[in-house]
Amino acid sequence: MLRKSGEILSGENLSAALGISRVSIWKHIRRLQEAGYEILPAGSGYRLLSSPDTPFPWEFPERSSQVHYYPEITSTMDMARDLARKEAPHFSVVVAGRQTAGRGRLNRSWHSADGGLYFTVTLRPAISPVFGFRATFAAGISMARTLNRMFSVKAGLKWPNDILVDGRKICGMLSEMEAEGEAVSFVNIGIGLNVNNDPASLEPAAVSLKEILRHEVSRKEILARFLDDFEGITEHLEAEDLISQWKHHSATLDRHVKIVTRKEAYEGLAVDLDPTGALVLKKADGTLTRVIHGDCFLK
Ligand code: BTN
Repeated sequence: MLRKSGEILSGENLSAALGISRVSIWKHIRRLQEAGYEILPAGSGYRLLSSPDTPFPWEFPERSSQVHYYPEITSTMDMARDLARKEAPHFSVVVAGRQTAGRGRLNRSWHSADGGLYFTVTLRPAISPVFGFRATFAAGISMARTLNRMFSVKAGLKWPNDILVDGRKICGMLSEMEAEGEAVSFVNIGIGLNVNNDPASLEPAAVSLKEILRHEVSRKEILARFLDDFEGITEHLEAEDLISQWKHHSATLDRHVKIVTRKEAYEGLAVDLDPTGALVLKKADGTLTRVIHGDCFLK
């Protein structure tokens, strides 16, 4: 109500509208202030001056019951998996202010300092487990599109799950799936986006939006815009032409790459993404090879 009005609202009006006592109103105001909302007591009323950039559930009015915010947890992947096993509905979102044990692909850790955006979306798509990879590709496409639209930055997709700006990593994605027989129970897509944090101090090949734009930006607005876009794509996960959309945002195709797996390394020109999400490389001898997983280095 304070945000909608933009003006002073009296304690009396708030109390009548919400059906609670004025003392309760005052207590709620105190809690909002503690959470970072700047609310000025004005006469016998209150006025909202500013809101913190914290992704509290109520900041997403259309999906507040699906958003779970934690100031600090081990990893949004852990929490989302627990909730998904307890029947969290499709498109539940776990978001953290910071993570004490954030994890990345290939058993790496994901440094999750204040200022970044760390979240996991639980999907329950009616697809076979072999199509699970499409969910992560869809997330990459949505995030690249969101960053392009909001900030006019040219975000490119690095196979399989990274987003780069000017060759530096701005976003990493991780997916975890559980299936029962031939049906996916859930796919959790975890996304770490460098927003107002300073990843380059630890990893020179990383960059944040703040560093690119030279000012801070709103994490909650990015999350809201991303979720709207991503929800649209995930409604038709099996039907969407994700391969050509991925290619459109690719920072991998037409580049010489080296792909390292636990057992092998492949080198060549990335010439295509096949319908299964495998990267097609043209090797020095002219032959083509498909790579289905691994760590990709752009040369
Ligand atoms: C990678 O680039 O290796 C993937 C990084 C994924 C990081 C995100 S942050 C939110 C979610 N929780 C985690 O512990 N990891 C993912």
